[in-house]
Amino acid sequence: MSEVAKQEWIDIAVTALEKAYVPYSHFPVGACLVTDTEKTYQGVNIENASFGLTNCAERTAFFKAVSEGEKQFSHLVIAGHTPEPISPCGACRQVMAEFCSPEMPVTLVGDDGVTKTMTVRELLPYAFTEKDL
Ligand code: THU
Repeated sequence: MSEVAKQEWIDIAVTALEKAYVPYSHFPVGACLVTDTEKTYQGVNIENASFGLTNCAERTAFFKAVSEGEKQFSHLVIAGHTPEPISPCGACRQVMAEFCSPEMPVTLVGDDGVTKTMTVRELLPYAFTEKDL
């Protein structure tokens, strides 16, 4: 992964923030999911008056990509208007564990471009996976 490509993926996730549908929380989140062939899928959080139906930005990106036949991913960027790099929710960490290798990097972005890159395993250690079934 080149630094130029990484910055491009960060820009895609940050640009997505404007498209988030967040009339209830006013907390936009943007995501850029990158496949093994470096195709990108943008995701945003999509809320609902029935709050529990809300879909997080990361899961929107995964569901877009998987529904297009993608199964191999190399990077995920998540952006929010947070003072520290945004922390993804537990449900999204579980979805990452389903579709990504434990070593896959996830770049978390906050305001002023502050970033932190962690692996899927670091985000969800001792994950429940198909091996546990
Ligand atoms: N949210 C995400 O999109 N991703 C996360 O990982 C954390 C939470 C959204 C859900 C909801 O629309 C808003 O942030 C506040 O919880």
